[in-house]
Amino acid sequence: MSKLAIHGGTPVFRRNITLPSVIQDAERDAIKKVIDHGLLSAFRGGPEVKKFEQEFAKFIGVKYAVATTSGTTALHTSLASFDLKEGDEVLVPAVTFVSTASVALQEKLNVRFVDIDKYYCMDSIDLESKITSRSRAIIPVHLYGQPANMHKILRIASRYNLAIIEDACQSHGARLGNVYTGALGDIGCFSFYQTKNMTTGEGGMITTNSKKMYDQVLLRREHGSPRSSKTWYNYIKLGYNYNMTELQGAIGRAQLQKLNELNRGRIRNAELYDDALNDTELDLPKLRKGVIHVRHSYPVLLPKRYASKRDFFVKALQAEGIPVDVAYPSPLYATPLFSDQKNTARCPRSDDITSRLFTLFTDCAITPEIILATKEAIKKVMKYLDETI
Ligand SMILES: Cc1ncc(COP(=O)(O)O)c(C=O)c1O
Repeated sequence: MSKLAIHGGTPVFRRNITLPSVIQDAERDAIKKVIDHGLLSAFRGGPEVKKFEQEFAKFIGVKYAVATTSGTTALHTSLASFDLKEGDEVLVPAVTFVSTASVALQEKLNVRFVDIDKYYCMDSIDLESKITSRSRAIIPVHLYGQPANMHKILRIASRYNLAIIEDACQSHGARLGNVYTGALGDIGCFSFYQTKNMTTGEGGMITTNSKKMYDQVLLRREHGSPRSSKTWYNYIKLGYNYNMTELQGAIGRAQLQKLNELNRGRIRNAELYDDALNDTELDLPKLRKGVIHVRHSYPVLLPKRYASKRDFFVKALQAEGIPVDVAYPSPLYATPLFSDQKNTARCPRSDDITSRLFTLFTDCAITPEIILATKEAIKKVMKYLDETI
């Protein structure tokens, strides 16, 4: 048996993997234009931010888009815009990035965690069973780039009169039929963090077809000062400074031009992982019918017998030089932040999946050579585990 790199053996992959190069000629030129012009930011959005908003809205197929400082602030602004009351409930999948749920705490709302389905998104049957008389909004997440079961979730929302805020932070360009994520619910939220399918470094965007929501969102983004007011210094709501800078707006516009190409690269890499790993015992991601999945990342499940060894497995792969992460290592309710939420109901599939999950990267830094090395390293570590546990 060859010695694992974590135990001092030779790593399978020995080259450094560079960050995906986001800043290329188009982005560099766009930033230079902003710097030469001199306007770096504007209270209600400068010309680059406004154009980015219009172009993003057009791409997603909605009437309005509002740029923010991050996906988290997009989610916070959106949720705050529904004017919910303290103690009202928001339904959130148990497996997601923290801010899908923590924005509810910011608004003094209760979180009800919903189990996930076999595609790692909110389970519609569990969703319906978790609705109470205090439920007001649902935040489905299109996790890893795949649209959630929105046909069912939309039907449930309309039956119980609940708002839908889509967390599309990992699904720029994903579609259900012909409709883009971010255009399916009342409002959609995107992140442009470095690792996302398109980036502005940090940044976010809110999308909606509702003029009413659009006005409410602008109010929150801009310190509660309405655009209809004669003066900026008239505050009618608690608001924030969640304005995107012109530099981010300019990068975003350049990135949006490339989004389809960037997504094609991620999809190609995911298909290469499918081919490379399909003769292993790993549980590979499943595609929902009728969707375009933009493969933000590539989630993989270890066989159950290795569940207690997942953290070792991932560290061992990293030592072999393989880019791998665990997004996410536990359901959110298992973290101290959410431990005093009234909803203590457990979500069995979320518990099981997060104990066996690891995630592979699909961005443009990943080459076919890295994918083959990933397969080799996975086989090497699994063989070690089989011979030692
Ligand atoms: C599903 C999900 N929701 C929300 C966010 C928050 O976005 P940001 O990091 O831009 O605040 C992220 C990004 O990390 C995410 O992946």
